[in-house]
Amino acid sequence: MKKLSNNNSDQTVMAGKRFTQADFDRITDRQGTNSIKWDARDQVFGNPDVVPLWVADMDFETPAFIRERIARRLEHPILGYTYRSERFAGSFISWVNRRHHWEVDPEWVVFMPGVVPAVSVAVLAYTDPGDEVIIQPPVYHPFYFCVEGHNRKLILNPLKTINGRFTFDLELLRQQITPKTRLLILSNPHNPGGTAWSAEELASLAAICQETGVRILSDEIHSDLTYPPGHHTPAVTAAPNYAHRIITAMAPSKTFNMAGMSTSILVIPDPKERKTYADLVYTLHVGMGNVFGFEALQAAYEEGDQWLDELLTYLKGNRDYLHQFLQAELPMITMMVPDATYLAWLDFRGLGLEQKALEDFLVTKASIGLNIGKQFGPGGEGFMRLNFGCPRSLLQQALTQLKEAVNNL
Ligand SMILES: Cc1ncc(COP(=O)(O)O)c(C=O)c1O
Repeated sequence: MKKLSNNNSDQTVMAGKRFTQADFDRITDRQGTNSIKWDARDQVFGNPDVVPLWVADMDFETPAFIRERIARRLEHPILGYTYRSERFAGSFISWVNRRHHWEVDPEWVVFMPGVVPAVSVAVLAYTDPGDEVIIQPPVYHPFYFCVEGHNRKLILNPLKTINGRFTFDLELLRQQITPKTRLLILSNPHNPGGTAWSAEELASLAAICQETGVRILSDEIHSDLTYPPGHHTPAVTAAPNYAHRIITAMAPSKTFNMAGMSTSILVIPDPKERKTYADLVYTLHVGMGNVFGFEALQAAYEEGDQWLDELLTYLKGNRDYLHQFLQAELPMITMMVPDATYLAWLDFRGLGLEQKALEDFLVTKASIGLNIGKQFGPGGEGFMRLNFGCPRSLLQQALTQLKEAVNNL
């Protein structure tokens, strides 16, 4: 990979200190850390030098106030079995209240080691083999195996694209639901489209689910990354009358770039629904968690507001830079401008390449590593997902390489 300049100031980032653009501009070499995004490039792309704009983590340093909390815990030399104190759920409750105007009761909070495991356990907990589960492609690919891997029937309710934005196909949804349909897995905000579903959209979706008795699992892992002046709407707050059948998954992992901590949270307001879920978590014995994840989550939710606000400003700059670059330099590649997430859904069909040729072109000619749109299911052919959660210089490098490669086509 080409050498990248490190144009940041050398200031030290400390808890409580104001962050600057330079902190997000800083290049931190992740190679040799078993980073999937960086160290698995050869294995995944067959080219160890692609600029990696794929897996959904960011190339920014996990904030110092989180690392310091973990370091403080390490000062005690015993890392034995650890339970979650009230502060664990309390920090989350206060965060979602401050950030998303959502009032959560401490009783409703359930720990899970990840959002994908949370989705998978929800499928097991609330459906039986042969039951139908709805997802809305193109959508985050693990949803497919969370359903089919448990021998449940996958029902695809494709999203429609209207004026460059995804919308639900509610008419089709109504027709698709049968007495065997038990669960709808929602990506809110949407991955890969970055769509922040509006309260009206969510309420209409929930109304159909309520009429037909279909539970909703709302994966809100990207919720904190909604760009102001837009805001995230938890599905439960859009459909308060159906809150007893909506399970929400959230985590600080995307927000604070700490996915390696394997720490997430489910909110299940209804006591019976919660017991069904918690009993299965107990049986599977996946609810223990890890001592550093607890410290990290609490630090993130207690101290993270300012850092997140500044991150969103930087990411918005990257998003707009990417959009403007494509419009000006590569107008045959179009982008769904995300309301949320650091993910951009790019339409490469204008290059006129077949799917396989497009994949080869990006890896061998442009030397950039993107997620293949087809992985997200129907509607993804000819599309790619680009992760712009990185220092701008890296994004600039990737786009320069792409432009050069397109010019040589
Ligand atoms: C929509 C969505 N859900 C879940 C995850 C992953 O969750 P976890 O790592 O907590 O299993 C991702 C990661 O990219 C995601 O985009």
